[in-house]
Amino acid sequence: MNETLEPFGVGIIGCGRIVGHHVAAIEASSDLQLLAVCDLDEQRARDMAPRSEVNVYRDYHRMMEENSGIDVVAIATPSGLHFPQAREVVERWGKSVVIEKPPTLKFTELDDLIEAATHCGAQVFPVFQYRFNAPVQRILRGIEEGDLGAPRIVSIRQRWCRTQRYYDQSAWRGTYSLDGGALTNQGIHHLDLVQYLAGPVSEVFALKATFASDIQAEDTVVATLRFESGAIGSLEITTATRPDDVESSISVIGENGYAILGGWATDKLLAYSPRPEDTQTFSQSNADAYGLGHHDIYAGVVRSLRGEGEPAVTNSDARQALQLLHALYVSADEARPVALNEQVEFQPLGNPDRSLWAIYETALS
Ligand SMILES: NC(=O)c1ccc[n+]([C@@H]2O[C@H](COP(=O)([O-])OP(=O)(O)OC[C@H]3O[C@@H](n4cnc5c(N)ncnc54)[C@H](O)[C@@H]3O)[C@@H](O)[C@H]2O)c1
Repeated sequence: MNETLEPFGVGIIGCGRIVGHHVAAIEASSDLQLLAVCDLDEQRARDMAPRSEVNVYRDYHRMMEENSGIDVVAIATPSGLHFPQAREVVERWGKSVVIEKPPTLKFTELDDLIEAATHCGAQVFPVFQYRFNAPVQRILRGIEEGDLGAPRIVSIRQRWCRTQRYYDQSAWRGTYSLDGGALTNQGIHHLDLVQYLAGPVSEVFALKATFASDIQAEDTVVATLRFESGAIGSLEITTATRPDDVESSISVIGENGYAILGGWATDKLLAYSPRPEDTQTFSQSNADAYGLGHHDIYAGVVRSLRGEGEPAVTNSDARQALQLLHALYVSADEARPVALNEQVEFQPLGNPDRSLWAIYETALS
């Protein structure tokens, strides 16, 4: 039987820098239909509506009330707003949510959101799209199939340039309440990738600093890592590189070989000792640092909503990244090694700052 399934209706809240990747992935899928887009700045929303039938809003409450066909809502607003907005969408309208990284700023918020979603019959889909860059998938396969073998040393280096102008673009950037610093905003992809490739981190010792921009949070974190598997590693994440981006890399020294993933967009396989020719086949040239992985994220959304398989990134994957994030902050703050099983939370991250939040508030209706 050739059964045609209805596409899932999608709404989007937040039409800034990243939203184009959501729109492109949704529009490319015959299983999804973009119904509405919303931004406090209506012109931004209008600019992102790819077709005239896509409804445009300033107020996402109205968007939800007037578009009953929405099944899933993509949230691409400032990071600190993900939790209150996602929980409202889940609880008030019973809809599933795709949430930009980091899904929430506190991992206890993620727990709360998942519980609410489960209660309301909705699903939560985190976005860590770097996983789907071709060199990442090659390295993962090399680890699983034994070419590289079990990782022994794993190193992350994200040396990017984000100037004061970048931080001054929007009030939320670089604040603990709505964003975090280099570790939370730019580094979170690597906190996911490193555990995707090498398994859970068990202990960290971190240092942090703010070198190059006038922001509340850090622009640099350096740390050592110990993994549950016994592997060890290092991490250097900074937005204080000048004058431009240098690299976004991960190297894996495995029991049978080594791999280096690099380029400024985490898209080049620079070395792969088991099959050097794979460096050509598995290197990409992404147009920007965000890559093409949003397509894989939305394929996972469809799969999971149809009950046909797992999403691309699970909630426990996302929790693991957030736990590592907080362990690194607490380690740097308290100048001590932190074990992940302490489940510590760095309090300033995600604490509401009412005057800042007021800029982005959609009044209750
Ligand atoms: N996956 C990735 O690689 C990636 C890349 C960049 C950004 N992000 C994430 O996406 C999110 C947004 O980042 P950005 O760089 O696009 O930010 P941005 O500041 O460019 O865009 C955010 C947009 O949200 C809108 N907004 C804020 N509050 C709103 C509300 N209550 N209702 C409707 N719209 C509202 C703002 O007007 C703005 O247009 C952040 O969480 C960020 O971490 C992810």
